Amino acid sequence: PGDALVDRFGRVHRDLRISLTDRCSLRCTYCMPEQGNEWLARSGLMTADEIVRVAGIAAASGITTFRLTGGEPLLRTDVVDIVRRFAAISGPHGPVEIAMTTNGIRLADMLPDLAAAGLDRLNISIDTLDRERFRELTRRDRLEDVRAGIAAAAASGLRPLKLNAVAMRGVNDDELVDLVEFALAHGAQMRFIEQMPLDAGHTWDRRQMVTRDEILTALRARWDLEPVPGRGGAPAERFLLDGGPASVGVIASVTAPFCGDCDRLRLTADGQLRNCLFSLDEYDLLPVLRAGVDDVAVDRMLRGCVAGKLPGHAIDDPSFLQPARGMNAIGG
Ligand code: GTP
Ligand code: 5AD
Ligand code: SF4
Repeated sequence: PGDALVDRFGRVHRDLRISLTDRCSLRCTYCMPEQGNEWLARSGLMTADEIVRVAGIAAASGITTFRLTGGEPLLRTDVVDIVRRFAAISGPHGPVEIAMTTNGIRLADMLPDLAAAGLDRLNISIDTLDRERFRELTRRDRLEDVRAGIAAAAASGLRPLKLNAVAMRGVNDDELVDLVEFALAHGAQMRFIEQMPLDAGHTWDRRQMVTRDEILTALRARWDLEPVPGRGGAPAERFLLDGGPASVGVIASVTAPFCGDCDRLRLTADGQLRNCLFSLDEYDLLPVLRAGVDDVAVDRMLRGCVAGKLPGHAIDDPSFLQPARGMNAIGG
């Protein structure tokens, strides 16, 4: 305990993504079937006490950023309490950073409490600015709630504020410039994501995917793009718009994987540790936590998970297998 979490390839782990629930208020076609998934049983979810305990142990071993994800993390009724308790956690690098990835729907209501509790920054998903498209894509007519959430985040002063869109052919690939303009109007950084083979229906098709290069070509019609060096372990490649300071990000997990610099671990809502978004193996921490073990035993689980990490994903491998869980249960 106390030593950094370093894997067999020398990658130091600094970022732990914790899924608070697999439930979501949207039903994005690329993520879930219409009727939703079979949700995790409540008794099998980590409690706030368990989550906070794991976070404290991870921080002691050098995790500096915690990102709360879902499903939709704001559906968890104790989310403000969890953030408040995270804000008291400190490791060898000082107080930890608390970030959240959300669909934005409940944000307008909850942001004052989240900010007061100590949330540091937000990434909000918005794939389209068109109400009818949003309704088709998410199977819910909630675009106005998302817009209100983004407006609240912009007003809150939490920075950097990032907006995420999965780029999809024939769905929103004609809106990329508009989405960047929308983000700029909110003092936010727009980021476009290459779609990954993590969809519920297992229908992902590489030839259908909008690639990094296509995204950049579309943006170059409007702005001069200048790469920003020094990305570290961040998935997004950033580009200054017309010399900056504003920038746009591209997350090209498929055509330009960043696995070599990956600094992430994941913890699912039901207490499974994962060393990769695409890993087939999970490390079952929940029974360990519930067996009443000491912190050293929990730390040992973290180290076992890190030790089992592969050099990278194998999306391009003919034998690639999609993980059994969908994105909503892994936490993105
Ligand atoms: P920052 O800390 O702000 O850089 O957050 P982030 O971009 O890592 O998190 P976010 O939840 O906003 O995720 C944006 C997209 O990046 C989603 O599609 C995630 O699935 C993807 N992503 C996040 N981490 C990883 C990763 O380690 N590997 C891969 N392949 N994709 C990731
Ligand atoms: N590929 C890439 N990104 C995805 N997301 C959900 N499913 C996928 C996928 N298959 C995105 C969400 C959200 C972020 C957390 O992950 O749209 O912006
Ligand atoms: Fe890390 Fe796996 Fe993502 Fe590669 S695919 S960056 S190893 S989580």
